[in-house]
Amino acid sequence: TYKIVTIGGGSSYTPELIEGFIKRYAELPVRELWLVDIEEGKEKLNIITKLAERMVKKAGIPMKIYSTLNRREALKDADFVTTQFRVGGLHARSLDESIPLSHGLIGQETNGAGGMFKALRTIPVIFDILKDCKELCPNAFVVNFTNPAGLVTEAVLNHTSWERFIGVCNLPYGMEVGVSKILEAEKSRVRVHMAGLNHMVFGLDVFLDGVSVKRDVLEKMATESESLNMKNIMDLPWSPEFLRGLDAIPCAYHRYYFQKDQMLSHMLEDFKTGETRASQVMAVEEDLFKKYQDEDLADKPKELELRGGAFYSDAAVNLISSIANDKRDIQVVNTRNKGAIASLPFDSAVEVSSIITKDGPVPLATGLLPAAAEGIVQQLKSFERLTVKAALSGKYEDAYVAMVTNPLVQSEHLGRKVLDDLLLAHEKHLPAF
Ligand code: NAD
Ligand code: G6P
Ligand code: MN
Ligand code: MN
Repeated sequence: TYKIVTIGGGSSYTPELIEGFIKRYAELPVRELWLVDIEEGKEKLNIITKLAERMVKKAGIPMKIYSTLNRREALKDADFVTTQFRVGGLHARSLDESIPLSHGLIGQETNGAGGMFKALRTIPVIFDILKDCKELCPNAFVVNFTNPAGLVTEAVLNHTSWERFIGVCNLPYGMEVGVSKILEAEKSRVRVHMAGLNHMVFGLDVFLDGVSVKRDVLEKMATESESLNMKNIMDLPWSPEFLRGLDAIPCAYHRYYFQKDQMLSHMLEDFKTGETRASQVMAVEEDLFKKYQDEDLADKPKELELRGGAFYSDAAVNLISSIANDKRDIQVVNTRNKGAIASLPFDSAVEVSSIITKDGPVPLATGLLPAAAEGIVQQLKSFERLTVKAALSGKYEDAYVAMVTNPLVQSEHLGRKVLDDLLLAHEKHLPAF
């Protein structure tokens, strides 16, 4: 039986995770689930803990829920640690999205200018967590959901001695579900080979019962205007010509790069009326926490589907179960490249289809990416490496170069403005600067 610790337990996503553990209890018997949060998240943590207890009781499984603000108490002898926290909360997210928009830049909270600051706030906290893990649960696997999940993995794998760290995103799992629907086939018959970076991943091939059907999938996407979108992203369609030319399945986030002008104008339109994704999410969250307090509720409520994290629990719990059971199945995770993508550094974090073993993920060889993907992937990786450098040095000039090289910024002039505003706005969460 297993002891699991979830850091950021007060997240409104936690019932999703609980559901995942309940569904898979037979193959992954969780003895103790510890939900950890901080003082600011105490009230949310209490509500979530009570709901989790009701869910477990209804399911009739002997999983014990613990809840604490003392991370070290929780981490002792953990088998798996999952992280899903947001330094500064949704207010900080709102700044990550609004400040770039106020300078006419896309307000993307994971890979854009705002995402860079989410990384700068997160990396020191993750490093502290890993110091505790080293002492209290040195053999645990850390499954990180905290965004920017790829960039955080890049920092950990290159600047700490902690190797057992895996970044997970629900997007690749959602893409496989969507492709299976397009093919009208059970998901177990379908495999999408994916490679790239987090929120910059491409479906490079699709197999149905062992036969490559990528072209059929792209053709159906083209003619039925199916875009494999997610709830948090504006659903602008891909043109049939672009899909055919790309010859790979783009992910939802590719719109920010390949349909940049249209995405920006839609976002600016909303921003004029004060609307950002953060403001939408705040409203959804308020409503969710009201529902979570209903003592008759003992399931994950339907309204959680309004968040972008659909299938989060399937992605996270499948990963944990495959490690625990040494399943050696294939899942898409953020892990050390080790040559899987030939054009990226050996030690970098990449998001690739990997075999999941008890020793961790073994990434599958991909070689070079298609030319249309290669450049933008390398650009994003350069930005990630520069952001990690800035997080460690705390130097203005390092942050400046990272900001200007962000694929959604690309301007020294605007980069400086957005950097200065974000530095000021997030000052209290940036101890290194
Ligand atoms: P949220 O703002 O509700 O934060 C979750 C919790 O983290 C809060 O209860 C907060 O109090 C807590 N927290 C903040 N700092 C902490 C710290 N230092 N230690 C412990 N807890 C801390 O955020 P959310 O919208 O629920 O999202 C949670 C995280 O999950 C975010 O980082 C988000 O980017 C990430 N996420 C990732 C994916 C993915 O695909 N990887 C999908 C959805 C969400
Ligand atoms: C998707 C992405 C996540 C991101 C989320 C945002 O699930 O994979 O990494 O955090 O969307 O959803 P939200 O509802 O918070 O806007
Ligand atoms: Mn994600
Ligand atoms: Mn709108």
